[in-house]
Amino acid sequence: MADFVSTRRDGSVAIIIVDNPPVNALRQEVRAGLKDHFAAAAQDKTVEAIVLACAGRTFIAGADISEFGKPMAPPGLSDVIEVMENIKKPTVAAIHGTALGGGLETALGCHFRVAAPSARLGLPEVKLGILPGAGGTQRTPRLVGLEKAMTMIVSGEPIPAKDALASGLVDEIVEGDLTAGAVAFARKALAEKRPLVRVRDRTVEPVDAAKLDELTASLLKRARGLHAPAAAAKAVRWTLDVPFDEGLRRERDTFLELVRGDQSKAQRHIFFAEREAAKVLDMPKDTKAREIKRAAVIGAGTMGGGIAMCFANAGIPVTVVEAAQDALDRGLGIIKKNYQSTVARGGLKQEDMDRRVGLIQGTTDFGAVKDADIVVEAAFEEMALKKKIFGDLDRLTKKDAVLATNTSYLDVNEIARATNRPGAVLGMHFFSPANVMRLLEIVRGAQTAPDVLSTAIDVGRKIGKVPAVVGVCHGFVGNRMLRVRGIEAERLLLEGALPQDVDGALTGFGFPMGPFAMGDLAGLDVGYRVRKALGERNEIADTLVEQGRHGQKTGRGFYIYEAGSRTPTPDPEVEKLIVDTAARLGVKRRTIGREEILERLLYPMINEGARILEEGIAMRPGDIDVVWVYGYGWPVWTGGPMFHADLVGLAKIRDRLAAFAKQSGDKTLEPAPLLARLAGEGRTFASLAAK
Ligand code: CAA
Repeated sequence: MADFVSTRRDGSVAIIIVDNPPVNALRQEVRAGLKDHFAAAAQDKTVEAIVLACAGRTFIAGADISEFGKPMAPPGLSDVIEVMENIKKPTVAAIHGTALGGGLETALGCHFRVAAPSARLGLPEVKLGILPGAGGTQRTPRLVGLEKAMTMIVSGEPIPAKDALASGLVDEIVEGDLTAGAVAFARKALAEKRPLVRVRDRTVEPVDAAKLDELTASLLKRARGLHAPAAAAKAVRWTLDVPFDEGLRRERDTFLELVRGDQSKAQRHIFFAEREAAKVLDMPKDTKAREIKRAAVIGAGTMGGGIAMCFANAGIPVTVVEAAQDALDRGLGIIKKNYQSTVARGGLKQEDMDRRVGLIQGTTDFGAVKDADIVVEAAFEEMALKKKIFGDLDRLTKKDAVLATNTSYLDVNEIARATNRPGAVLGMHFFSPANVMRLLEIVRGAQTAPDVLSTAIDVGRKIGKVPAVVGVCHGFVGNRMLRVRGIEAERLLLEGALPQDVDGALTGFGFPMGPFAMGDLAGLDVGYRVRKALGERNEIADTLVEQGRHGQKTGRGFYIYEAGSRTPTPDPEVEKLIVDTAARLGVKRRTIGREEILERLLYPMINEGARILEEGIAMRPGDIDVVWVYGYGWPVWTGGPMFHADLVGLAKIRDRLAAFAKQSGDKTLEPAPLLARLAGEGRTFASLAAK
């Protein structure tokens, strides 16, 4: 068996090394190894000081998340830390890469911490629906103060080494060889007879209670719907009220309660699903991504501008091509304004903005695409136009350039056929605002070459996106499911609900906004055009558009927006339109409860998700969850539509869908064969193997 923990010597200093690739997670063997090796070094009379270092790319990145939810094999991390912190010789953690969660807690079991300049330290447990479970909430405030600890633990955001040095979380930054620096630090501590104070014995500096309350409230505002951040904030405060050991005991109890809860299960599911969603099962092992040095974006509209920003933010030079000079100027102006407002908010330094803006070039000369290694087309959503653009790209780009379309609905295979190199073509579907939303649906065409697919995944990661690989169908995964929700939302209006009832049910479930407020934000004319092209009609939404009510941009849509406001106010005229339309169509309106509204909106989406899986458009149920959590604001603490379905129980969803189908006469609401089969067998979506 591999040595997960080993000790080597540098004179009288013992260097204990953790080696558990890829991220040195604290699996049972690592915990046991740490306990044994620290105990042995403590006993060894020839050892005067101990350094804890890690092999590979990072310090310990935390507990092994895949062990959560299973019975914990001893020793627990707290037992390991207890052994470490009672050693009467200087102990120094040498931190490179990321010291996260249990990793940072382990480092807090040492007397001292030194770090590489590029290291990052944090307690990201809230992102997994838990709180630090091995003393993090009790030790961190004793070292860095309550306010800093509160921010780190409730937000879950790691801090850079420089910041950690300033706050006292690390004692020294080591340029050059980190382990050698840690050994030198240990020797200096010995020579100077520095007092060996356990972190647990330090006193918490008193703070202004009102200021702490204010800080906590502002941190929790961003954690709407989540249980863990509030629990973590409470735990940090125990450092003021109870002795260390009592705080530790309470922290452990809260950890166990949270880790067993559905929120944490859902967030852990998303952690792994996010990493799986870009893994393509039939990708040949030796596939190599192409090198991307320069990008081009076709179209300087909202999407094109946002996509260009993504490249520039990642340091990749990008050329924006637009047909007319005024449209180009407008687009580049909006990009600049977006950056300026981030600078004004303190989110970006002026020099970083200048560098990013400097990486974006605009031109009306289509021939400029010749230098690009990847082109993302973000022109108007029209097949004839896209085919013309791809024909031109085929003639004008380098032989090995990757040609991507940002289409949200159209057939990527048909677009690919407009070129003589369909293998180079795929979809890269960004979500609005493209520079903010994390999801990138990568649409694999029938002929997309493996290295082209691999390049898109690679680029997606480089520009900070969460790539999810999907197949070709109308609307791909996200918009295809959104469409069925939209149909049901309109039906609910006719049958008795109002826009605010439908939107309220979804925001109550955890979405940032419902379909009608979202439609108003995006512009109702967008969906109108798509439906028109398909020969479909949405009675209420389409009438609103025909009345000139396009949403926020016209001050009226499903709601009214007072001048300059983004707050939706219900409109009696819209209610009248709904009631009249229902009467005209002979639909009898009734009171519809919030629970039924939710079921009617979410279950058809899950049904469509089942069809998407069956058709192989998505490889795994988790991929669909990633699309909805990162692209459409599905609340992460419910784990996405397919994970949520498993929690609700597939039999219940099948039965409700069958009832909805009967009631509406809409056959598309009948349970999809896969859903019916799994429900019949008492199984879950999670039990499916990827395909
Ligand atoms: N446990 C188990 N597996 C983990 C893991 C963990 N803590 N962290 C990462 N991995 C796995 C990933 O699933 C991935 O596996 P595959 O290659 O099979 O997909 C692999 O390690 C590499 O991870 P990334 O692709 O994410 O690599 P990266 O270089 O982009 O990022 C990282 C590295 C910053 C450490 C990132 O993986 C990360 O944020 N990990 C989670 C850290 C975390 O949340 N730690 C706290 C755990 S909870 C805790 O510690 C509780 C406690 O109090 C004891």
